[in-house]
Amino acid sequence: MSTATLTKTIPVARPFIGREEEAAVLEVLRSGWVSQGPRVAEFERRFAEYVGAAHAIAVSSCTTALHLALVTAGVGPGDEVLCPTLSFIATANSIRYAAAAPVFVDVDPATYNMDPACIEAAITPRTRAILIVHQIGLPAAISEICEIASRYGLAVIEDAACAIGSEYQGRRIGQPHTLMACFSFHPRKILTTGEGGMITTADEKLADRIRKLRQHAMSVSDLTRHSSSQIVTESYPEVGFNYRMTDMQAALGLVQLQRLDDMIARRRYLAARYSEALAQFEWLLPPVEPSGSRHNFQSYMVRLADSAPLSRDQLMQEMLDRGISTRRGIMAIHRESPYSDRRPTSYFPETESVTDNCIILPLFHTMTEEEQDCVIDCIRQLSQP
Ligand SMILES: Cc1ncc(COP(=O)(O)O)c(C=O)c1O
Repeated sequence: MSTATLTKTIPVARPFIGREEEAAVLEVLRSGWVSQGPRVAEFERRFAEYVGAAHAIAVSSCTTALHLALVTAGVGPGDEVLCPTLSFIATANSIRYAAAAPVFVDVDPATYNMDPACIEAAITPRTRAILIVHQIGLPAAISEICEIASRYGLAVIEDAACAIGSEYQGRRIGQPHTLMACFSFHPRKILTTGEGGMITTADEKLADRIRKLRQHAMSVSDLTRHSSSQIVTESYPEVGFNYRMTDMQAALGLVQLQRLDDMIARRRYLAARYSEALAQFEWLLPPVEPSGSRHNFQSYMVRLADSAPLSRDQLMQEMLDRGISTRRGIMAIHRESPYSDRRPTSYFPETESVTDNCIILPLFHTMTEEEQDCVIDCIRQLSQP
């Protein structure tokens, strides 16, 4: 099959939602309990089991997960938090929600994750925490970063929005590599609940506080109140948030969790197939997987070398004209207006280059090999002058 015979657009990503998910959500709708309740509690238990964490707390998104993680780690007004600028803007926004300031750090040009060698120069007396991002599913250099953090007494939190099922040094992300890890269930992620997020931690006190803060700091949970045979009057000892997940979302997540290993295996297979086929184009640099890290391939991102026959945006447009949807690679937060005053652009040379030259190719669980061949074939055609 060639691109000439392509009759429908190949999307860059496609969530997989089957009959079991439909049935699970319908069951919740018919149960009469649609807000945070028994399904959320079960999803939390299963998620904690899957990643190997002592506690998992479900919330409305990864952005709200990050906000709660930062607040409960003690980040507040006047504090600085180090994070990569090569990330989705939610990473930095969550720091601002905690009334702190993001201080950006450049990335390693091979992995596109935060470069440990750039961290110490960014630490000041106001630095309180490091927010590590496992970009598009590839684990960052957690050990090196934690070693620096412990020398300076800094908390480490993982933005694991994209890293469900990824592994670092033989353990899944979400196990206590750090204080807390925050996941996303947005439809661009491998496991989706429509919108949704999860925080995992080994610390019981933190988990309890997060559970309270996600529902206005209410002293008693809805579940406890509803199942009590005595009258329960709750109190609200501090200002909290409404960051709850619904039982409909959790029901979806429970089914998706059962499919997760299969979805990751399929993605890894397709990613390896891309890398093998694309090796013939010396102008396209495939993603790397350092030893000790296992990528979930939430996305398959390639980088255009200087020798590329066309620019990144030309390549994306030509592919779109042929029915193949792609996305630019990861954004650079410091280029967006709310953050553009923080440091001069030239301060992040690796980020600048990665954000301008990377492209995300279609990759999803149900992608067929024929569809993937169309993408590869299209790139082959475009690589000929
Ligand atoms: C690195 C990163 N952090 C945070 C988020 C925010 O996740 P959510 O949409 O669940 O709030 C995303 C979403 O794409 C992300 O990629």
